[in-house]
Amino acid sequence: MCGIIGIVGNKSVADRLVDALEKLEYRGYDSAGIATVSQGELDRVRACGKLVNLKQKLKETSLSGHCGIGHTRWATHGVPSEVNAHPHSTQRVAIVHNGIIENHETLRQKLMAKHHHFESLTDSEVIAHLLDDYLQQGDSPEDAVRKARKELVGAFAIACIFHGHDDLMIVAREGASPLAVGLGQEENYVGSDALALSPFTDQLFYLEEGDMAILSSGSVELWDSEDKKITRSTFQSQVSVEAISKEGFTSFMEKEIHHQPQVVEATLASRLDDNGQIKPSGVDWNAIDRVTFAACGTAFYAGMVAKYWFEKIARLPFEIDIASEFRYRMPPLSANGLCVIVSQSGETADTLAALEYAKSQDQTILSIVNVPESSIERVSDITLQTLAGPEIGVASTKAFTTQLAMLATLAIEAALARQVITSSQALTYIEELRQVPSLMHLAMGKDHVIRTLSKKLATMSDTLFLGRDINYPMALEGALKLKEISYIHAEAYAAGEMKHGPIALLEDGYPVIVIAPKDSIVEKTASNVQEALARGAWVIAFTDAPHIFSGCDYIEMPESTLLQSPFVSAVLIQFLAYHTAQEKGTDVDQPRNLAKSVTVE
Ligand code: G6P
Repeated sequence: MCGIIGIVGNKSVADRLVDALEKLEYRGYDSAGIATVSQGELDRVRACGKLVNLKQKLKETSLSGHCGIGHTRWATHGVPSEVNAHPHSTQRVAIVHNGIIENHETLRQKLMAKHHHFESLTDSEVIAHLLDDYLQQGDSPEDAVRKARKELVGAFAIACIFHGHDDLMIVAREGASPLAVGLGQEENYVGSDALALSPFTDQLFYLEEGDMAILSSGSVELWDSEDKKITRSTFQSQVSVEAISKEGFTSFMEKEIHHQPQVVEATLASRLDDNGQIKPSGVDWNAIDRVTFAACGTAFYAGMVAKYWFEKIARLPFEIDIASEFRYRMPPLSANGLCVIVSQSGETADTLAALEYAKSQDQTILSIVNVPESSIERVSDITLQTLAGPEIGVASTKAFTTQLAMLATLAIEAALARQVITSSQALTYIEELRQVPSLMHLAMGKDHVIRTLSKKLATMSDTLFLGRDINYPMALEGALKLKEISYIHAEAYAAGEMKHGPIALLEDGYPVIVIAPKDSIVEKTASNVQEALARGAWVIAFTDAPHIFSGCDYIEMPESTLLQSPFVSAVLIQFLAYHTAQEKGTDVDQPRNLAKSVTVE
């Protein structure tokens, strides 16, 4: 979750550390800081809040030095504050940390007994003191890191610089906290992802579990978990910093909503061959009797939509679970089964752990990820990459719809391979998918109507989203989007379930948002809406059958099929959340308390 950057080179690093932190701010933004070592002296500047505050402070206090580390924080232990911000330092060492040290309390007690004085409430500060303790005893920085890491329990990626060493940085990784090492000209780098390193170098390798590396301006040396000196091959990163611009939109989220037709089209195109047929994914669909799916957040809802597609179109059972539940539930899985894992970042700790569990049960892992070269991709058997491009807004939009695009093509592929549909039916489905970008454009035309409704919605404190069948996961995603960025409480229910509880909440003016494209059961949903209207609710219906939603405010959707409608409703619920948040004046790109990449449990 937190972002780490480190540079050891031959020119000043402070400004460049801050520039790199800008690219990592999606990982956390409650405080930030940098530390450098210059003429042997460690120095640091930290600030609470977004990076802009750190920049302001650095105007008053500049940091010199050719070796430095930076951090942007998503709080786990200790409130967001300057004192809890990284880097954490002692006289002898400064460190930045991503992850969680589970035995921090025991270590803290032990170190306090040895007269170490702690200033923060973070788990991370123990790393600095533990290293300091070994350094005090005369260990070299290298030995101190080697010994300290053996005492740390948990998941961590750390980067450390040392008093008296202007050309030395030591980094280490344990657990689900990625760390990339970048190789440059008389300069080397470390970063939480390839994006942060993209302004400096495209030659990278990732630290594997248990690796430790020693960086100087002229060399990188590496040891594995067994303390064997090794080398790892570098690759050329394809991540480009150019893609990170708002392109005239007021926020990344707004840009990302508008880019969906083109990235969905690109993602679909990547799955079709020259004859317009779906390319084989590599899965033997006749060898499996069910699919298991695990993911978190919005990616989980993409899987929930896919469940309806796989079960209705391919007649293949599709079991879904939230990754954080799946990993500890220890579900029995059929031998040689298929596990589908979806993740925008390819890094989410719970999703990665769910994948590892599935692997331990001899499942073939098919992952759908957006960030190239991610941890999940590296341990999957088959990876399909969504072509959403960098998604910067914390609330997922274009990653979600490209995930849907991938999953839809897989459902058609499975249906055809299992001979549940004919080739001509497959072509009809593919043609429906080809129309999706235009339908999304049509949905975007409803922007102004949604904006008007959002003015009233922004005055509300609670909302209920409803949908049946494939629209139920879309209702869940709609509620998630609204709560994430506008902070309005939003719940979602399967429409038929409203009478079993949430109906008790309804009173005059209570907002109910219903996703109801015309399908075989739209009238059932309309009956539930009547029940809500009868209790005074204010109902907004997203539908292409407005005549059966009399008494509601409605947004007219373009007509769509089972395969198409989730893409259309995705655009509408995103605009609803976006405009409501704009109306409330919240930060849509960096909503409070959230982070884009969640590498802790
Ligand atoms: C965070 C993000 C969500 C995302 C979820 C799963 O909560 O804010 O937008 O859906 O993590 O992330 P992943 O990268 O695995 O898709």
